[in-house]
Amino acid sequence: MPTVRIAAVGDVHVSKTSQGVLAPILAHVADHADVLLLCGDLTDYGSPEEGKVLVKELGSLRLPIIAVLGNHDYEAGHPTELVAQLRDAGVVVLDGESHEVQGIGFAGIKGFAGGFGRSTLGSWGEPGIKSFVKEAVDETLKLETALARLRTPQKVALLHYAPIRATVEGEPLEIFPWLGCGRHEEPLLRYNVTAVFHGHAHNGSPEGKLSNGAPCYNVAMPLLRKRYPEQVPVRFLELDPEPKSEHGPSYEGPERRRGAGDPAPAAANGAGAGPAVRA
Ligand SMILES: [Fe+2]
Ligand SMILES: [Fe+2]
Repeated sequence: MPTVRIAAVGDVHVSKTSQGVLAPILAHVADHADVLLLCGDLTDYGSPEEGKVLVKELGSLRLPIIAVLGNHDYEAGHPTELVAQLRDAGVVVLDGESHEVQGIGFAGIKGFAGGFGRSTLGSWGEPGIKSFVKEAVDETLKLETALARLRTPQKVALLHYAPIRATVEGEPLEIFPWLGCGRHEEPLLRYNVTAVFHGHAHNGSPEGKLSNGAPCYNVAMPLLRKRYPEQVPVRFLELDPEPKSEHGPSYEGPERRRGAGDPAPAAANGAGAGPAVRA
């Protein structure tokens, strides 16, 4: 079975005036990938007007597209409409579900905040704190459900929020707890995912590892633009759907980032990076 080329990017932050901004990126993806993953913050506010611009931009790409929403996509209060617009345009939007493309399994959630390691916010005290923590726990359970449904040897997870601390490093320490939640790492380990992609931390780090060594990529477009200014701001990963072992030579480590040396797209602005705390 041939290898599958995955392209991933998050935080494209399409606004009402973003017409044409994604075109050069998508043209590059069309030539170098078999599937595109969009890791949330697809829009600035999640308004139907932005949704219209987004689906028009994506309409030029004749590849399977799998997406999760981000926090920005909720701001206008119309996430259901945005999901409907995307689905009508053929985009597979995951919110605790899974999907298979050419023998590779994909599981997706938005995720939530809450912090990492021993500093993870616990469900204790006021109802407001408990409901905040419950949101992160519920997202984690959705991820577990999505991964449990996959029967493919290679499982790839896409989130908006970070599941590990390593890929938010570079952001101000004070906002780490709002950039992701370590609870999300538990199902990723249990189901032995091959790779994880997320966004949200515009000033984080592009690469990290789960505690079992699996690669975790922060593909927030503003971050990729800053860190790899000469390249198209998309992460590429090539996977064999039938690896000899699940954690064997099928891995494409972080050093195998494809697209090196590619020219940056002509329209390299308009990604709409907001204040870091609203990543
Ligand atoms: Fe975000
Ligand atoms: Fe963002």
